[in-house]
Amino acid sequence: MNFNIASFEEYKLAYQKSVEQPEEFWAEIAENFTWRKKWDKVLDWDFKGPNIEWFKGAKLNITENCLDRHLADRGDQPAIIWEPNDPSEHHRILTYKQLHQKVCLFANVLKNNGVKKGDRVCIYMPMIPELAIAVLACARIGAIHSVVFGGFSAQSIADRIKDAQCEMVITADGGFRGTKDIPLKNVIDDALVQCPSVKTVIVLTRTRTPISMIKGRDKWWQDEINKVETLGLIDCEPEEMDAEDELFVLYTSGSTGKPKGVVHTTAGYMVYAAYTFQNVFQYQPKDVYFCTADIGWITGHSYIIYGPLAQGATTLMFEGVPTYPDAGRFWDIVDKFKVNVLYTAPTAIRSLMQSGLDYVKDKDLSSLKVLGSVGEPINEEAWHWYNDHIGKGKCPIVDTWWQTENGGILISPIANVTPTKPCYATLPLPGVQPVLVDENGKVIEGNGVSGNLCIKFPWPGMLRTTYGDHERCRQTYFSTYENMYFTGDGCLRDEDGYYRITGRVDDVINVSGHRIGTAEVENAINMFTDVVESAVVGYPHEIKGQGIYAYVILNKESEDEELTRKDIAMTVSRIIGAIARPDKIQFVKGLPKTRSGKIMRRILRKIAEGDMGSVGDTSTLLDPTVVDEIITGKL
Ligand code: PRX
Repeated sequence: MNFNIASFEEYKLAYQKSVEQPEEFWAEIAENFTWRKKWDKVLDWDFKGPNIEWFKGAKLNITENCLDRHLADRGDQPAIIWEPNDPSEHHRILTYKQLHQKVCLFANVLKNNGVKKGDRVCIYMPMIPELAIAVLACARIGAIHSVVFGGFSAQSIADRIKDAQCEMVITADGGFRGTKDIPLKNVIDDALVQCPSVKTVIVLTRTRTPISMIKGRDKWWQDEINKVETLGLIDCEPEEMDAEDELFVLYTSGSTGKPKGVVHTTAGYMVYAAYTFQNVFQYQPKDVYFCTADIGWITGHSYIIYGPLAQGATTLMFEGVPTYPDAGRFWDIVDKFKVNVLYTAPTAIRSLMQSGLDYVKDKDLSSLKVLGSVGEPINEEAWHWYNDHIGKGKCPIVDTWWQTENGGILISPIANVTPTKPCYATLPLPGVQPVLVDENGKVIEGNGVSGNLCIKFPWPGMLRTTYGDHERCRQTYFSTYENMYFTGDGCLRDEDGYYRITGRVDDVINVSGHRIGTAEVENAINMFTDVVESAVVGYPHEIKGQGIYAYVILNKESEDEELTRKDIAMTVSRIIGAIARPDKIQFVKGLPKTRSGKIMRRILRKIAEGDMGSVGDTSTLLDPTVVDEIITGKL
């Protein structure tokens, strides 16, 4: 079985083999990597535990696959191209040789500061090459990285550090995003008040904002590099890792409680990220590949760092935002570096679309060959705009559906191989066995149907556990339907067997492609001093896909409702981060509840959508009059 799928026929054969002989299929794919020791068994699994083991008994280091093995053939080829936030600052290029050297040096910094295999390291950094270096340096020595997105608050970081008991934090003084300087180190200082497990903080200089540096705990990145250089610690042998040793933790929101630390392990994740990267985007040697995600999310982990580097690709990292200095920035970058593959999110496309074609018209986009979309359903209008004005009708759009828990893309066209259809993620990749299930757990057969999307067989990149709480992993993903992984997404399968993801069916909302749990936002709102109770739902938002709508009961009449709304939004920013600020807050006297006290979110969703006609039967409510009151009071 070839690693590269070159035709639809080959796809069908590969798919068939992956279902009929999964172990043989993945063993052949895995032959394309560097192993210290090959596996004893390809797969052991049960979804009850769950217990999932891929490439059991194998030994490897993922950085040896992402760096060392490319040195002989493409040591001088760019591994990372970095474009700064400010277009007048010079870009940077790191070849595979340079990246390898820098990762080794920084890995020695980690060791020199007492970090060992299995230790957890929190990384809170801007989108600069040192972020990728820090991630890879952890993997080099077998430390487990937990990257936290720069938009999260001190409280959120503290929660994540405490949950994983991180021993070290790697950060920067600040980061540039558009016109803003984000004070990263200050946020870390606030977080660390609650985190005694952290012994060392390594601080990189980026914005040179004044920051505190605490003796004994805080150390400058460059000083630490100088130290290991002086000691002659230049090379760093990769730590030999077991296939199932933990590679990283990444926190993500669910419908209940605090975010969970999704755990990915070494071999399966590597094989899956690299295989899907190669095939979905049909990466060709020397192509420039640009994924606009932040490394703080799974897309950045799998498709800026691990997938592309495992394949010896040139991956472009961008520090800034799509609208700075103007809405033509992505197209300037495509033009400047002759980008061949662009992978972005519908929310970015919609926002650039709204800025008009003036920002596109004089840009040379002729280098583009493949366009990707990820993170949320793409609407028809955005799909066509992307296709017509960016791809000029000649670039396939790969609408890639997957999740943090999946490690890599599960359902997606393969560029130039799978015939595409607007807004469809199309067909499962080899190894992925989707099923649609009704609410009673019955599998829905045939085409032209819709239901809840589950996956009935393991794939190498899937999560293994949630950090420190395996039972939570079982409960969340494997208990809703027997012997299946439940995605939380609704989906339809059309007459051609093509899949279209329709959005979450649980209490998770997707704001600008960021996953936010409504319960989390409610908890944050309820921390506000005058709030008695709140209920949060998503509603359609032109740019963000979904916006956050909060119904809030106060314990006393607000004297200045606008100001109280701002106070509440600020409270949410402090507790979770600016990404979770409600877009709309409506003060209400009561919430629609059943006689057993359960909030009827369906009704609140309809009202937030402005679809009052579909509110439906309210007679079973404890107090049906609250619905009229909410409708009358809607903004
Ligand atoms: O609802 C689906 C949506 O994003 C969720 C996963 O979010 P997260 O774990 O943050 O990962 C995002 C990037 C991999 C899914 O449950 N989603 C992701 N991609 C798509 C999508 N919805 C529709 N179409 C997609 N292509």
